[in-house]
This record gives sequence, C-alpha cells and structure tokens, in this order.
Amino acid sequence: MKNILEAPFLREMCEATSNMYRLVWDERNGGNISYMLDEAEVAQYLDPSNVLREIPTGFEAKPLAGKLFLVTGTGKYFKNVQNDPETNLGIIRIKEDGVTAQLLWGYKDGGSFTSELPAHLMSHMARLKKDPLHRVVMHSHPTYTLAMTYVHELTDKAFTHSLWEMCTECIVVFPDGIGVLPWMLCGTNEIGAATAKKMEEFRLVVWSMHGIYGAGRTMDEAFGLIETVEKAAQIYMLTAHLPRVNTIRDEDMVRLADHFGVAYRKDFLNLK
Ligand code: 13P
Ligand code: ZN
Repeated sequence: MKNILEAPFLREMCEATSNMYRLVWDERNGGNISYMLDEAEVAQYLDPSNVLREIPTGFEAKPLAGKLFLVTGTGKYFKNVQNDPETNLGIIRIKEDGVTAQLLWGYKDGGSFTSELPAHLMSHMARLKKDPLHRVVMHSHPTYTLAMTYVHELTDKAFTHSLWEMCTECIVVFPDGIGVLPWMLCGTNEIGAATAKKMEEFRLVVWSMHGIYGAGRTMDEAFGLIETVEKAAQIYMLTAHLPRVNTIRDEDMVRLADHFGVAYRKDFLNLK
C-alpha cells in the first residue's frame, strides 16, 4: 500500500483548505469541501472493503451509491487540515441503501462529515447529471461576497450582472452566471435541495448572508470560480459607495463572450 498522506487527492485538499484559510475566507470551522474520488485510485492507499464505521446521512442519495468522497469534517478548522488530515478529513462511500456513509479512512477522533453534506451530495447529483466529469463541491465564507449580499438585490440576474461588470474576465470565467438563494437555515436537507436545484443551472450558488458554493471538475476549477467571484465582489464593495463613472457595458460583455467563445446567459444582459 502507498502512503495515503502522499496521495495527490489528499495533497490537493490540504492545499485548498490552507489557501482558503489564508485568504480569510474560512474562519474557525467555516467552509467545507467534498471531492469525488476514483475507487481504483483510492485502493492504492487503503483497502476499500475495510469499513471503519457506518454513519447515517439523514437523506437519500441513491444515485451516488458506491461512490467515494473525501470530505472535510464537521466542526473542523481549515487551518488545521494540513497538519492533521486524518482527524480533519474523512473518506466515505455511499452505501447501496443511499442513506448510509461508510467511513473508510479519517475522522480519527470519532468525528463525522460536514453538517452541509446534504448540500454537497445533492449538488454532486445535480452537477453529475449535467457533466459526467464533475468532481468537486466547495463551500466557503469569502468576505466581500458575503458583504455584497447585504447591500445588493438578491436575484440571479442582478447579482450575476453586477459581478460581470466588475472584472473584464468574469463573463468568461462564469458565463453560466451565479445562482442566489435567500437566507436559509444552513445544515439542513432543505438548503441542500435548494442549492442542488440552482446547481442544475449554475456552478456557483450564493447563500445570502452566509457564503458561496462552487462546483467543478477539479479542485482548481471550483476554487477558481469562487476566487473570481470574490475578487469581483471586492471591487463591487470598494466602489459601491462612489459615483460610477465607468463600467463594462453589456455590448462589451457580448464582445468578450464572442471573442473567447463562451456560451453565456444572454438573458442576464440588458441588450436593446
Ligand atoms: P461544518 O463545520 O459542519 O462543515 O460547517 C461549517 C459551515 O460552513 C456551515 O455552513
Ligand atoms: Zn458555511
């Protein structure tokens, strides 16, 4: 068996959580990540038939039965993941019944997966239907994105449009836009279902007055989406109280999207 601490998927998780902590996106236990793994790859590091514990999930995720996920632990601090992955992370497999997680590795102190597992697994189901190569769901509390939800209209169109206006490359990075949920109780199946519904259309979902979700084929894609939104939200918050003298016009956004060949949400522009 190879040393799991050297597994690329584990290193990626450690890097992502450390970076997110240093960017001040994930205070205390804020944020969570789930990463769908390839069983054959995992089998190089552990025996997948050795189930350490079974943990009920509290919701049904039958389409994910047999799938393995590397998931951050509930109550665990992103800043601590790098130094002690086996306590702060776990590898789970969704059992055939769809409602039980089989722990294969991690949560060494008797811990469990993130309280946001419903939003993660339901989002995985939604994204996999759209894109069979989808792998990562990432939740974070980036400062300016969160600030923006206090002062900006909370519709998919208006929020996306304001972000697209803030950096030239936004419409190229997330041409599919961003879904916005109102404030909802977190850690519930309800917010999980609402997030997954938005994920049918978007790779980015804002939880107003809470944070953001990003989904992607790789850790870099999910991270890069959130990073780009956060940068745009920062510029929005730095300029929102000042007179707007210049902007990226909708016609310019069309030119950008055409030039880079991206399919964008035309209905999110206000073209005459
Ligand atoms: P967990 O510690 O359960 O992952 O929760 C953190 C969080 O961000 C809740 O939304
Ligand atoms: Zn959160």
